Amino acid sequence: MLPLTPPGGSLITLIGAPGSGKSTFAAHYPDSWRVCLDTYRRLATDSEADQTGTGVAAQIQDLLVDARLNRGLITLVDSTNLAVPVRAGLVARARYWQRPALAVLFDVPLDIAQTQNRARSRVVPEHVVRDLHQQLPTPELLETEGFAAVHRVSDLALPARS
Ligand SMILES: Nc1ncnc2c1ncn2[C@@H]1O[C@H](COP(=O)(O)OP(=O)(O)OP(=O)(O)O)[C@@H](O)[C@H]1O
Ligand SMILES: [Mg+2]
Repeated sequence: MLPLTPPGGSLITLIGAPGSGKSTFAAHYPDSWRVCLDTYRRLATDSEADQTGTGVAAQIQDLLVDARLNRGLITLVDSTNLAVPVRAGLVARARYWQRPALAVLFDVPLDIAQTQNRARSRVVPEHVVRDLHQQLPTPELLETEGFAAVHRVSDLALPARS
C-alpha cells in the first residue's frame, strides 16, 4: 500500500527537516518521479553538502520539474523545502503547467528526526537539524502559499519498513 495516491500530473513537495523521512517516503514511488537537490549537488561537485553547487543543482531540478510537468508526469521534490521562496517557486511552476501542487509535511518531532539522523550513514550536524526543524511551516501556512492539498505524515499510514 502506498502512503499516498497522488493525482496524475501532480507536483508533490516534501517538506521537512533532515532525518525526518522524506527520502524514505519517496522510495515508495518510482525512482524517476524523484528530483533531489542533494543528488544534483553531488553530481556537480562530488559532495552532497557542497553548498557552492546549489545554484547549478537548482537549475537542473527546475529543468527536470518543467520537463516532467509539461508531460503530465507526477514529480516528487525530495529536498527540505523549508524556505518560503523555494516553495513559492515550486507552486509557481505547478501553476504555470496547470498541475495540482500537493505538500507532504513531515511533522516529525525534533527528537525523532535527531535520532533517525544519528542512526544513518550521512549524519547532518545536530544544530542544523534543530535550526531547520524550527522552520517547519504549519499546514495552514502551506495552504495560503497555494498548495491545493496538504498531507501531514503523522496522518498517513506509512507502510512498515523492512
Ligand atoms: N517512519 C520511519 N520510521 C523509522 N525510521 C525512519 C522512518 N522514516 C525514515 N526513517 C529512517 O530515518 C533516517 C532518515 O530518513 P531519510 O533519509 O528518509 O530522511 P530525509 O528527510 O530524507 O533526510 P535529509 O533531508 O537529510 O535527506 C533513515 O535512516 C531512515 O531509514
Ligand atoms: Mg533525504
